[in-house]
Amino acid sequence: MVAEEAVRLARLIEHKGPYDRDVNDEVLTLFEDSRKGFGDYIGASSDEIALTRNVSDGINIVATGFDWLPGDEVIITNEEHPSGSLPFMNLSERYGVNVKLLKFQTEPTQLLKDLESLVTDKTRLVFLSHVSTVDGARLPAREVGDFLKARDIPYMLDGAHAVGQFPVSMKELGCDFYAGCGHKWLLCQQGTGFLYVKKDWITKLKTSWVGWGMTEEYDLDSLSYTSLKTAQRFEFGTRYWATHASGIKALEFHNNIGPENIYRRSHDLASQLKRRLIDIPGISIKTPMAKTDSTGIVAFSTAGLNHPEPGNWLWNEHRILTAHNPKTQSMRIAAAFYLLEDEIDLLADKLSELAS
Ligand SMILES: Cc1ncc(COP(=O)(O)O)c(C=O)c1O
Repeated sequence: MVAEEAVRLARLIEHKGPYDRDVNDEVLTLFEDSRKGFGDYIGASSDEIALTRNVSDGINIVATGFDWLPGDEVIITNEEHPSGSLPFMNLSERYGVNVKLLKFQTEPTQLLKDLESLVTDKTRLVFLSHVSTVDGARLPAREVGDFLKARDIPYMLDGAHAVGQFPVSMKELGCDFYAGCGHKWLLCQQGTGFLYVKKDWITKLKTSWVGWGMTEEYDLDSLSYTSLKTAQRFEFGTRYWATHASGIKALEFHNNIGPENIYRRSHDLASQLKRRLIDIPGISIKTPMAKTDSTGIVAFSTAGLNHPEPGNWLWNEHRILTAHNPKTQSMRIAAAFYLLEDEIDLLADKLSELAS
């Protein structure tokens, strides 16, 4: 569906030209529909959505949107993806911002206790992964939202592995910023990111990259401009609009199945795999078992296997795609909702073979 729509739009654009008025109208209308689609999917208004290329874009827009001073503090978790830590390490290098690490954990009381011990009057932003890229564990993000709201501390979540895995609601989470993408669990084309900026932050967060498309008024003679009052002010310039336009088909597909059903199905598949892994000697599951604390990602360490060799064997011999972390000698799989029970069993069989 997504591929067909992408090819249809690409044909239109390449055959008729991107500035053919009919083509331009259709593609730009679909682009705006995509903004609404992402907004509806996470319970936000279109005005609060900036369409980006990826999650990293969204994180960078927020990280560079504050007037940082030396000694300002940012709290991130110890399980951030490089795209979640580098933007803040960069602030440290450029402005002398102190980055503090919070231990990623699923138990809310201890998490909040640890967070409390890191917060000071210099804390200007708390940035956390909604789902750990390391083991797929799920952060008690709403509890953190309540905690930070009571202390008036800005809160950002990285939703790379959350959106499309389980229902996500901005109102419930209470965050100020949320970076997500269509190209992972939502099955949109690559290059389909979005950034949620809560209404009251739209005009407070500074714009670092500017260009045509982000102003409501602009006058070169007087060198003056007024930025849009929506999150579209964080976008600028020409993009391949059709990438986002085709993503609507993926959002429709997800909505038709229903985020709750997707969540249940992928939890069932992950649980099936975990039950099998428990019996395999040398394997130790890293991802929590409880549905509320986990996702369709399953991570486990493997005694005696030399990573990434098992991943090469699984791919070359069986076309099973896995992710590997040689540093922790562990591997990670994604039990996405569209997999079959037989495919999960095949993976477990092959892991048994490897272990023996
Ligand atoms: C938790 C997390 N954040 C950010 C990213 C980067 O996403 P993107 O490539 O869309 O910028 C990833 C990529 O896997 C990720 O796992």
